[in-house]
Amino acid sequence: MGNAKLSRRQFLALSALALAGCSSQQQDAAPETPAEQPEEPEVQPDAAPDPEIPATAGALVLYFSRADENYNVGVIDEGNTAVMAKMIAQRIGADLFELVPVEPYPESYQECCDVALDEKNAGARPQLEALPDLTPYSTVFLGFPCWWGDIPMPVYTAIEALGWNGKTICPFNTHEGSGDAGMFSTLETVCQGATVADGLTIRGQDAQNDREGTQAEVDTWISGLER
Ligand SMILES: Cc1cc2nc3c(=O)[nH]c(=O)nc-3n(C[C@H](O)[C@H](O)[C@H](O)COP(=O)(O)O)c2cc1C
Repeated sequence: MGNAKLSRRQFLALSALALAGCSSQQQDAAPETPAEQPEEPEVQPDAAPDPEIPATAGALVLYFSRADENYNVGVIDEGNTAVMAKMIAQRIGADLFELVPVEPYPESYQECCDVALDEKNAGARPQLEALPDLTPYSTVFLGFPCWWGDIPMPVYTAIEALGWNGKTICPFNTHEGSGDAGMFSTLETVCQGATVADGLTIRGQDAQNDREGTQAEVDTWISGLER
């Protein structure tokens, strides 16, 4: 499983499989046992692509993001990663699903950092309000901020509760200096059975304050995935 760029054929083939019954669906908060997981569809990567189907059809944009006070941006109404997520969903006409922790993080940046560090050190898996049903989707755009050089713990909650076999993940993240911090590689390990495509990394303050530049980066990235 490499950090591979998808061929257009591969993308089309995977996307075509997702079209049947594709809609925005959600299931209740984290199932308690793996037995409660939705069945994964059988993936046939060699299915003939339909040239009429857009390359990114049948995708889900799944993200975690936090508003309130943050580094370099002050107090914001919409998180930096949320800005990216919405741009991506609009660009490809994808469904959008936000991962929302049951226990909200503190509004203060410093207090949030303290809580997040404690969670990371404890290997916490904060409970989520709800999880998406990935069954109809072959491609998942998965986005999150960098927290303490790692994927935020609530995102691990979702990753570990969902089935990734046969899925293609297009990862994206925001940060304030750490880049992707190896998080996209981590996805290859923790999302068993998924193919992780080339990701997009953007500074949080740019996503928040330079919408035009961010849109251009999103468009370029998606065009590359579709080729
Ligand atoms: C708890 C916490 C930890 C963070 N740790 C890092 C870090 O290790 N490296 C980094 O570059 N930025 C770090 N940041 C900055 C965020 O990655 C950045 O502000 C990001 O754009 C926030 O995205 P969001 O608004 O979607 O939540 C951290 C921010 C918070 C709140």
